[in-house]
Amino acid sequence: MRTSQKLNRNWLFILGDSPEYAKEKTDESGFKAITVPHDWSNDYPLDENALTGGGGGYVQGGTGWYRTHIDIQINSGERYFFFFEGIYMDSAVYLNGIKIGGHGYGYTSFYADATDAVKNGENTLAVRVNNSDLPNSRWYSGSGIQRDVYFVKTLDIHFDHFGVRIDTNGIYKEYNKADMNIRAAVRNDTDTTVCVGVLHKLKDAEGNVVFSSGIALNIPAGETAECINRPTLPAPHLWSDTDPYLYTLETSLLQDNNVIDTYTCRTGVRTATFDSDKGFLLNSKPVKIKGLCLHHDCGLTGAVGYLESWERRLKKLKKMGCNGIRCSHNPPVPLLLDLCDELGFLVMDEAFDEWYLSKNKNQNYYSEQLAYGSAMFFSRYAKEDLTAMIRRDYNHPSVIIWSIGNEIPEQSSQNGPSIAGYLQDICHEEDKTRMVTSACDNIASIAPICTLREFEEVLDVVGYNYVGRWRERAETFYDEDRHLYPSRRFIGTENPSVGGIRGEYKSGDIFGDYSAITMHHEALWRYTASHDFVSGDYLWTGIDYLGETRWPRRGAPTGPLDSAGFEKDSYYYFKSIWNPDEITLHLVPSHWNFEKEKGNYLPVVCYTNCDEVKLYINGKYVGTRSYECPRYGCTKSWNDNWGKHMTTNDLHLSWDVVYEPGFLKAEGYKNGEKVAETIVVTTDEMTSLKAVTDRDEVRIGGIVQIELTAMDKDLNETLTANPVISCHIDGYAHLVGMDGGDLTDLTLYSEPRRKMFHGKLLAVIYADMPGTVKVTFETDNGIKTVSSFTVTD
Ligand code: GAL
Repeated sequence: MRTSQKLNRNWLFILGDSPEYAKEKTDESGFKAITVPHDWSNDYPLDENALTGGGGGYVQGGTGWYRTHIDIQINSGERYFFFFEGIYMDSAVYLNGIKIGGHGYGYTSFYADATDAVKNGENTLAVRVNNSDLPNSRWYSGSGIQRDVYFVKTLDIHFDHFGVRIDTNGIYKEYNKADMNIRAAVRNDTDTTVCVGVLHKLKDAEGNVVFSSGIALNIPAGETAECINRPTLPAPHLWSDTDPYLYTLETSLLQDNNVIDTYTCRTGVRTATFDSDKGFLLNSKPVKIKGLCLHHDCGLTGAVGYLESWERRLKKLKKMGCNGIRCSHNPPVPLLLDLCDELGFLVMDEAFDEWYLSKNKNQNYYSEQLAYGSAMFFSRYAKEDLTAMIRRDYNHPSVIIWSIGNEIPEQSSQNGPSIAGYLQDICHEEDKTRMVTSACDNIASIAPICTLREFEEVLDVVGYNYVGRWRERAETFYDEDRHLYPSRRFIGTENPSVGGIRGEYKSGDIFGDYSAITMHHEALWRYTASHDFVSGDYLWTGIDYLGETRWPRRGAPTGPLDSAGFEKDSYYYFKSIWNPDEITLHLVPSHWNFEKEKGNYLPVVCYTNCDEVKLYINGKYVGTRSYECPRYGCTKSWNDNWGKHMTTNDLHLSWDVVYEPGFLKAEGYKNGEKVAETIVVTTDEMTSLKAVTDRDEVRIGGIVQIELTAMDKDLNETLTANPVISCHIDGYAHLVGMDGGDLTDLTLYSEPRRKMFHGKLLAVIYADMPGTVKVTFETDNGIKTVSSFTVTD
């Protein structure tokens, strides 16, 4: 029978290289004890001259070795594998000194077959990771065994890796049923032909079996054979972004009435397709994709994406009304897709940022010099990597489209269309149900760097990056191509999001996040929302990310959530237009501490889905604003000239207010009735720290996230307080790091002292051993708070 055991504890790591480290026995005294997932780049100070450069986030690369010792009891007729979800990059895997596998590309998962090298008793697994050809990434890649590792044991006759794949072929409303298509690939590693039975059972969310379907299969010696079952699911409960209902498929492999292998996967019953007139269709109904691009890092945890980090961040994005994630520009950590299945995100799973041609990413970031990168592996492993992504992620209902590349230089070169065709064919061969795109950034550019028409024509769905970036398209967006190519399917693979620096309102630029980029998004969103043929957008980005920056900054502030996952003002802009189910009434600025601005006009912006908002300062009425058209602009000069400047494009409200300390109050009305109220106050000095812990109980290897906020004596959030916070832990847990979202704070994340940023700080604690953990946070002048949680085995 199959067993699959997570192998994340008891690893040793060394930064350095020696052939000795591959051996079964070696001097391990220089190694340090770690757990995986692990990202060594996050363990060393940032350095302006680091070879990873601004692209990679000014961190250390190099070559490192991991070793672990595991007890294995071997039996005849069994096979043994190690499964690595992701190692960045260029790894080689040794068992007891024998090389059993390796992998180039840093983001695809792979198996290493250990059967011929394994022995009874203690075994030594050693992994070399080579991230020394630098720079090799346009964003923070991190380095090391960044994702989970599993030890998998099967019998000689077993389901192939990712061997069970399930499709919804059609949903027939009138008959209230769904036609399913289930493929199972079985491997026979014995030396005789075998006859086996494959039995599928689909269970609903309550665990009831809703169908079972079996088939017999003959498999010649040393071969893999596939069988197909086409059961009917009566009264299907469909998966969607608003109702992400999941079934579980349990498949058994039977020989002589004995179960010899099992395979379990979750699935959702849904159809997903793209239409040239109606845009994206989920279960045959048009759904507008309100999507965001995400890189793989999780801020202070570097390239390690813990389940809890992604859960916290994705839940916030969902609440904002986002329903789509583009995994830019590489296959994600698998747990992210599990969460997308559960929370209802429409995922674009992307394979590559480079094909044969490498992109610029040297230290000066914008120089012409070419560099290392995933292009190094493309000519040998393109098919293998693309197939690895598709097979691994196949059963996730959240994945609605494959992307074969982002801004691929070959989009403008002669061989580009044929490479695109080759890659798209691989996708189609593996998956008959999903369409394919590639994100093109030069569609309306002028020759010679223009995307070739032939390249666009190859794609099932044409992906547009920054459609409004060319002057004449700044307002017409997709119009021209819609007229030229009426049968084309359109998706906005990348467009500007709204980021900004949380809580930062510079004098003269008091709008903070409300800027030209917001106006651009307002215009684009109006277009996208009102043109059915546009499937939607994936905006750059949902969350601030590490890398792609210039010194002295460690990342790019392009998302509505900062690197610590705190909501910026722009978060409420999106929420007001994307989430109709909740009332949003948010004022910008989000605090009222502008002592120096006394007597000056300050613009006040409101993001809301109320029809009308009344604003008061210190109880005095300022004015009412609504989305009526035409309406007055936001500054005095606009008011004087409103006839010239009236606009119907705004998706925000605004007032000019003469600053005086005190409080601003906004009242939101719908159909004439008051439905919400928001107050922004001038706060006093910080006198306490509020700590909100995301869970009371966590298992070993999990993390606890604690959000800290500075408060004044009246318990108002003091968003202008930035004291240094020290973290002290009692119990079997350790600090992974702290972050307030300030990308210019270059302190190592794992330092136990860090400055708050605009009144906020996130702390992440890793659970080492069972017991009670007490975490104390304290400012230098003695303001303190204590959080506690329990760690279980
Ligand atoms: C896009 C690119 C992204 C990122 C972004 C920065 O063109 O696809 O990876 O570099 O620009 O604005």
